[in-house]
Amino acid sequence: MEPDGKEVVLITGCSAGGIGHALARAFAAKNCQVVATSRSKVSMGDLEQDPRFFLQELDVLSHDSVQRVVSTVVEKYGHIDVLVNNAGVQCVGPLAEIPLSALQRTFDTNVYGPMRLVQAVVPHMASRRKGKIVNVGSIAALAPGPWAGVYTASKAALHALTDTLRLELRHFGIDVINVAPGAIRSNIGNAVIANYSQMPEWKLYKPFEAAIRARAHFSQGTKSTPSEEFAKKTVAAVLKKNPPAWFSSGHLSTAMAVMYHLPLFIRDFIIKIAMKG
Ligand SMILES: NC(=O)c1ccc[n+]([C@@H]2O[C@H](COP(=O)([O-])OP(=O)(O)OC[C@H]3O[C@@H](n4cnc5c(N)ncnc54)[C@H](OP(=O)(O)O)[C@@H]3O)[C@@H](O)[C@H]2O)c1
Repeated sequence: MEPDGKEVVLITGCSAGGIGHALARAFAAKNCQVVATSRSKVSMGDLEQDPRFFLQELDVLSHDSVQRVVSTVVEKYGHIDVLVNNAGVQCVGPLAEIPLSALQRTFDTNVYGPMRLVQAVVPHMASRRKGKIVNVGSIAALAPGPWAGVYTASKAALHALTDTLRLELRHFGIDVINVAPGAIRSNIGNAVIANYSQMPEWKLYKPFEAAIRARAHFSQGTKSTPSEEFAKKTVAAVLKKNPPAWFSSGHLSTAMAVMYHLPLFIRDFIIKIAMKG
């Protein structure tokens, strides 16, 4: 049942080039059995032949997909030790004009998605009085700026859910960890631009088009932290006997944490300059 006493780690959103893929490799390097999942196995093809990985297709928008994968993993290994809710989507556009369908889809992926996984794995973890749940939020939620309001709101919601889960699940021996990445190199900028092309033409905000597009790539500048470096530190924190309630790392993570504590008029002033909006 248990593969050589290894911890079984289930991660969502493990497509190559992203944080989930780097986390999968970092957990495997720490002797974990990794259930790497993504919407399509092709996106994780490089992990296929390595026995440290068990690849599964999982769409966090689908209740059936989540239930199927969790049942398969519990049947195969007998348990899930760590769940990492990493899958997520960025979304850019002005709040006054963005289609509500884009808002709903972002929340469905970034908020309801993790909750689908949490509700599926908790019965198994609680029955063993052991487990860890890692929710990947974002440092951006600590100082929301223009053009990414839908995304930062979804991550703020996830942070709040995570804080409540930590208190509610401690009764069952389950640790819950909020991971807030700074700016980490991944596919997130390209993914959001692909969705952005489906947005309607802005009306009031047409003159801000270039700034809105620039927001899509804000986390992908030359100083962004490599995903491998971020993943290594995150995995070290998660695998501690007593993992931290909050773990943040990566380019701009300290600056954003400081921003969170600033008076709003100062924060707004800094964001206006930084984001040119
Ligand atoms: N990169 C950063 O600077 C940064 C900063 C703060 C927080 N984060 C968070 O870190 C996490 C990983 O993002 P990333 O930067 O690595 O972006 P990424 O490279 O775009 O990876 C996102 C992953 O989520 C998957 N995904 C999207 N919708 C999904 C769905 N419905 N079901 C299952 N998987 C789905 C994507 O799959 P496909 O390949 O099929 O699209 C991809 O594997 C996200 O939660 C993101 O919000 C990133």
